[in-house]
Amino acid sequence: MRETPPARPGLKAAVLRRKPVADLVAEGGQGAGGTLRRSLGLTQLTSLSIGATLGSGIFVVLGEAVPVAGPAVVLSFVLAGVTALFSALSYAELAGMIPLSGSSYSYTYATLGELVAWICGWCLVLEYGVSVASVAVGWGQYVNELLRIVFGVAIPDALSQPPGEGGVVNLPAIAVVLLAMFLLLAGARESARANTIMVVIKIATLVLFCAVAFTAVRAGNFSPFLPLGMAGLSAGAAKLFFSYIGFDAASTAGEEARNPQRDLPRAILLSLAIVTVLYCLVALSAVGALPWQRFDGEQAALSLVLSTVLDNEVWAALLAVGAIVAISSVVLTVLYGQTRILFAMSRDGLVPRSLSKVDPKSGTPKVNTVVVSAFVGVLAAFVPLGRLADATSIGTLFAFGLVNIAVLLLRRRRPELARTFRVPLAPVTPLLGVACCGYLMLSLDVATWIVFGGWMLTGLVLYFGYGIKRSRLAGR
Ligand code: ALA
Repeated sequence: MRETPPARPGLKAAVLRRKPVADLVAEGGQGAGGTLRRSLGLTQLTSLSIGATLGSGIFVVLGEAVPVAGPAVVLSFVLAGVTALFSALSYAELAGMIPLSGSSYSYTYATLGELVAWICGWCLVLEYGVSVASVAVGWGQYVNELLRIVFGVAIPDALSQPPGEGGVVNLPAIAVVLLAMFLLLAGARESARANTIMVVIKIATLVLFCAVAFTAVRAGNFSPFLPLGMAGLSAGAAKLFFSYIGFDAASTAGEEARNPQRDLPRAILLSLAIVTVLYCLVALSAVGALPWQRFDGEQAALSLVLSTVLDNEVWAALLAVGAIVAISSVVLTVLYGQTRILFAMSRDGLVPRSLSKVDPKSGTPKVNTVVVSAFVGVLAAFVPLGRLADATSIGTLFAFGLVNIAVLLLRRRRPELARTFRVPLAPVTPLLGVACCGYLMLSLDVATWIVFGGWMLTGLVLYFGYGIKRSRLAGR
């Protein structure tokens, strides 16, 4: 006898359907055809988050933020860091409780329903997939800087810029994305190992930068400290928020962590603490060593500082090498995060199922990795991404806002669930998290909001055209 098909849910019921926390957790690790391997410990998870965070924000975007904020750029870093901290605490609570690859997408699926979860996942594509493309572009700039210093040549614009910015194709961007793809296909453990080495190199590079730049600090360079007022300070913070994006990357490794409940909260908070201290020291030494007016949006800003204060290109070359390694590790880890988020969305049926197939040999989602890398590679090679850092920030802030709300909702609805980390002073802290995210979103300019609006609209079309019907919860 044929089974009667379940009645189709109404639109409202469909967009509001939630996935129970128990179901989410029970599915952990399961993909079509195999399971992800649990191979990552605290060191690798912390390196994963630092790897994804510390990169073009400090090496490239700093140079764009100084003209906006002046020497107060140091406080812009603090403000952006505090915003990140509120959300990091919420991430830590949820990652310890729902340790899944989907990260905030999974948390919102459990609390705010499918439509909001989809929107969150769509914003994560902006945070991960699109940002990694813009980061790959920054990589090419430092490669050129190195070639210029060492050999006196540079890759011509035609081959290192996308159409619309004076070129035909950005080859260095494709190269770094392909390198990352091959590492990811080799396995999560192999990628994590390579990433940990790169993280050590990039931290050492920034420490070296501080050591050299501090010797050239002049008190006069800090005055006036706020030449462009509070508006400059917060606009700088909104811009620099980009440099904090990625501390949540450990939460996308929930299904590959050996002890996720214990290690994910620690990795998220530890990485944010390390990165914030480094950023503030680098900013302090950079604007202390070089008058802020000299930063004219120059992209290889830290090289500029060193070559100016020391009149010696060797340091600048070393810094360029550090930046190349730093940005490579961002590309690797952010690409990793994107593949894992899509993995979770695919398992739920909101994106094609092939994205959650696991290759039994390497224990990695192979098809997913190739598809995501191809998407990112094409984006980085052919699309002018100038405005993208801000658009990435706005999407991330939105997703972080949702994570804070998810903490509040789960505290009310499921107070009994085991939490390995609890946000202190809740509900005040998560509410402050939402407020800070909203404030920084409002500090971004109109053009960024327009890009964001277009992005959200595209996401809604995709959801109502595809996800709502294919969702695994449809018809349950
Ligand atoms: N936070 C990352 C970077 O700065 C996206 O490169």
